[in-house]
Amino acid sequence: MPCMPVIDSVAPDFTAPSTSLFMSPSLRALLNTLAPERRAALERRLSAQFDTLHDRLFRLYGHTHGFDAWLEQLLSQTLQLASQRTADLGQLDLNREENPDWHQAAMLGYCAYADKFAGSLRGVAQRIPHLHELGVTYLHLLPFLKAGTPPNDGGFAVASYEDIEPALGTGADLQDLTRQLRSAGISLCSDFVLNHVSHEHAWAKKALAGDPHYQAYFHWVHSPEQVSTWEQSLPQIFPQTAPGNFTYIPAQKAWTWTTFYPYQWDLNYANPAVFAEVAQALLKLSNQGVESFRLDSTAFLWKRIGTHCLNQPEVHWILQAIRSLMAIAAPGVLLKAEAIMPTRDLPPYFGLGETRGPECHLAYHASLMSASWVALAEQKVQIIQDVLANTPALPDGASWMSYVRCHDDIGWNVLRPELDLRGPDQRERLLKAAQFFAGESPGSYARGASFQSSPLSVHGTNGMASALVGLASAQTPMQQALAVDRLVLMYSLALFVGGLPLIYMGDELALGNVSPADMATRLGTDGRELHRPVFDESAFALRHDLSTPQGQVFAALCDLSRARREHPDLCAPGALTVLNLGHDTVLGVRRGQRSLGLFNFSAEPVSLNLHQALEASQAVTLTDVLHSEQPCPDTLVLPPYAARWLETSTEG
Ligand code: GLC
Repeated sequence: MPCMPVIDSVAPDFTAPSTSLFMSPSLRALLNTLAPERRAALERRLSAQFDTLHDRLFRLYGHTHGFDAWLEQLLSQTLQLASQRTADLGQLDLNREENPDWHQAAMLGYCAYADKFAGSLRGVAQRIPHLHELGVTYLHLLPFLKAGTPPNDGGFAVASYEDIEPALGTGADLQDLTRQLRSAGISLCSDFVLNHVSHEHAWAKKALAGDPHYQAYFHWVHSPEQVSTWEQSLPQIFPQTAPGNFTYIPAQKAWTWTTFYPYQWDLNYANPAVFAEVAQALLKLSNQGVESFRLDSTAFLWKRIGTHCLNQPEVHWILQAIRSLMAIAAPGVLLKAEAIMPTRDLPPYFGLGETRGPECHLAYHASLMSASWVALAEQKVQIIQDVLANTPALPDGASWMSYVRCHDDIGWNVLRPELDLRGPDQRERLLKAAQFFAGESPGSYARGASFQSSPLSVHGTNGMASALVGLASAQTPMQQALAVDRLVLMYSLALFVGGLPLIYMGDELALGNVSPADMATRLGTDGRELHRPVFDESAFALRHDLSTPQGQVFAALCDLSRARREHPDLCAPGALTVLNLGHDTVLGVRRGQRSLGLFNFSAEPVSLNLHQALEASQAVTLTDVLHSEQPCPDTLVLPPYAARWLETSTEG
């Protein structure tokens, strides 16, 4: 087998030579075959994007043999795929180019596995009325492309970027679904697993069969010593169920890089062929009507010896090049970074790193999510205040994706930077929070489970939100009511602070954990299955019954969603300001000119003097936009675990 070393970046020469590629005769000939309007749009976009695209790709691959020919081929494929976009997608692109902030207008997301939510892609289309009722405008479906034989990490081991998982449907079903969603005002977001493929993907199979072209799509390490040299600085994602970052492949007498499970082979982005394949796959899916991509595990794309191989500069060149290609071929499409990193590492994913330029439109605010859970356990809001204080303002057209739960565990370690700033002993708070949510601390109402943690090292927590807030353990109506209030509080915060907040399937119906009997039927040993339940028709049937937790949570989420739509200030892009309310259990956040969110994370009622906190010299009028009340600013009482969304105005 040819030795394909992990390529450390050759110190690149960033001064790209002038290129004759822009509008080369073959690209010109291709454009000339198109209808005049499409041609004009593509010429305009190519000319706007060419310099950035060339620069980022030259940084990455300028030193490789035949770079110019490779780039010309990439552009030609991109223009061909652009020319195949249907008329309605072409129109969508034009509309969104005219209104690039379209996704910042009170969008609300929903995230689900297609099979668990609705059986199949066709089933998902049947659930559009449910999404409508919630006010959802963005549907993130977890991986639905053909996956490797289970266990396959919930579909995150992709066996083909071109085919749909047969149990979920066909390419035609996907196109139908995207059309139906689009006409219902809902954008479909597809997961796109960038970092790795299943060992059953054709590329991996050909590599195993000895094809050097495909062997070069992966990373190979040839000795245990090399493995341990790399491992010294690498993190462990699944330290207990899939320790280490390399898997020995006997047929190759070498180790391949497997950051996640051994059946997920990391792609070698130092190879330009990998970039081109992935870019094409993204564009093909866009042409099926996918309007947004969740770029999975983006932080891991580039490997550099001696580093933790996370967030390397090349990752951002790759993402910026992808953004440029999208801006040429499918500018209506959004890119979302799945980089579950501390907040301080996220600005580059919005293009604010060393190499500036448009990158992702969205990124998960994982620290804010984890901090909200810590605050709930501690009944103190300091950690959320610290995270918000560390949260930078974003460039125009970029937003945070806020959430309460998702299909992954709540990862605690993203909060280390905020805690370390408070002192050397503060990380213990994460261990305590994990114990609390596993129901292991005295008085804990939570029924989650620790994930990949040991007594000495905390990692994550699994469990549906409703189990974590105490619904599963509630014995009395009072305990049940408090659990509902906690769940609504968590969503009130996520929907108040987020640019694009996300509801995790089942939370709107207070769905609980997967039962032990069902867990036993799930393949593999992944504890995250605990919070991957099947949509529950009986809970759904109760959604309008306000005497049930299902009905109470559903009504509350619908109210929050409606308030966001009716009060644009509640979603205005821009920085959030934390208010000092003089109570360590209550978070006060200002957004825009007039909106104020109050969130009581404790089991005790709190009386607030907002007049003082707002430092208002004139009288302040408050309108509670959820309850249509006008509370008194000097003596506003927040019940236990209550949230208020207020509009403020001063007289005079
Ligand atoms: C992302 C997914 C997670 C998966 C991992 C590897 O983090 O959210 O579920 O295990 O990528 O693909």
